[in-house]
Amino acid sequence: MARILTGIQSSGRPHLGNILGAIVPAIELSRNPDNESFFFIADLHSLTTLKSGLQRQEFVRAIAATWLAFGFDYKKNVFWRQSRVQEHTELAWYLNCFTPFPMLSNATSFKEKSEKLFDVNAGLFTYPVLQAADILLYDANIIPVGKDQKQHLEMTKDIASKFNQSVGETILALPQPQIDERMMTIPGLDGMKMSKSYNNYIDIFLPEKELKKVLKKIRSDSEGLEEPKNPEKDITFKLYSLIASESDVATMRQNYLNGGYGYGHAKQALLECMLEKFAEPRRIFNYYMENEQELEAILVAGETKARAIAQETIAKVRKVLGFSS
Ligand code: ADP
Ligand code: TRP
Repeated sequence: MARILTGIQSSGRPHLGNILGAIVPAIELSRNPDNESFFFIADLHSLTTLKSGLQRQEFVRAIAATWLAFGFDYKKNVFWRQSRVQEHTELAWYLNCFTPFPMLSNATSFKEKSEKLFDVNAGLFTYPVLQAADILLYDANIIPVGKDQKQHLEMTKDIASKFNQSVGETILALPQPQIDERMMTIPGLDGMKMSKSYNNYIDIFLPEKELKKVLKKIRSDSEGLEEPKNPEKDITFKLYSLIASESDVATMRQNYLNGGYGYGHAKQALLECMLEKFAEPRRIFNYYMENEQELEAILVAGETKARAIAQETIAKVRKVLGFSS
């Protein structure tokens, strides 16, 4: 049985890019009866950039509600908040002491973030160590992530082997990253990678009127209504082809090529398609956002399952390091 594990930082409400690029594919993997999935909300990681407790709580809820809205089976699997299982921070400290300083200072994501951000704190620096702890606590074998996380997973393996070598026993299992090089990059409103940091994202859970306003902002060329248009170059068409049925995509392609079909028509079709395709996820999302206690109960039950496993690993680590008898 494969143990799959992945986390999403609670640094914003999930957008279409997170959903189609990370959440939906992970849920598909979790549907294989031979797999056991460990999906968590990396709220401790979000503290490296987000300081507001109120916002964090809202984002944690929104991320949890999104996993549930897209059908994650929290009963069969394990679903929790990283901060509620203290073993994550405990193991991260131990691993810090086995992580060579240059490994962290050469990390690409640290270099990028420290050039961009005003607040370059030590948490940003040791971010990959906490991520290693997240993975190693649960003996996870498969870690589905995007290309940007490849280096973090290599570091996890290096840290685990350094630890094992140093204590002279194989205590921590080395994970297998599952990086899909072809993984889709969902374009944002401006055609760049959709990201909360570029403020070009689509929040599919917005009320209809607001969603319509957002979709109107999708960049398009300036051809007039009557002119034929190139679907391959257009962002609205790209987004539509990610979610609409094959035959609807073919119809829209033909409309573009024929002319007499404006970008406004395409955006309206995209809106209708989103409302239809995501009707059930939107309903479930709103349900959990309104029924906080139910969501809380699900996460608390998940914490209990996660903690039981994390405690087994931590007990072995404490023992070999001389912190317990
Ligand atoms: P953001 O760029 O909005 O800050 P994160 O870095 O928090 O998003 O990403 C969370 C997950 O969603 C990661 O697994 C990432 O690979 C995936 N993801 C984010 N944006 C996109 C996108 N535009 N296309 C595909 N996957 C994405
Ligand atoms: N760093 C990951 C991201 O930004 C989130 C994350 C934290 C994670 N811990 C993890 C992903 C463990 C996979 C496994 O997307």
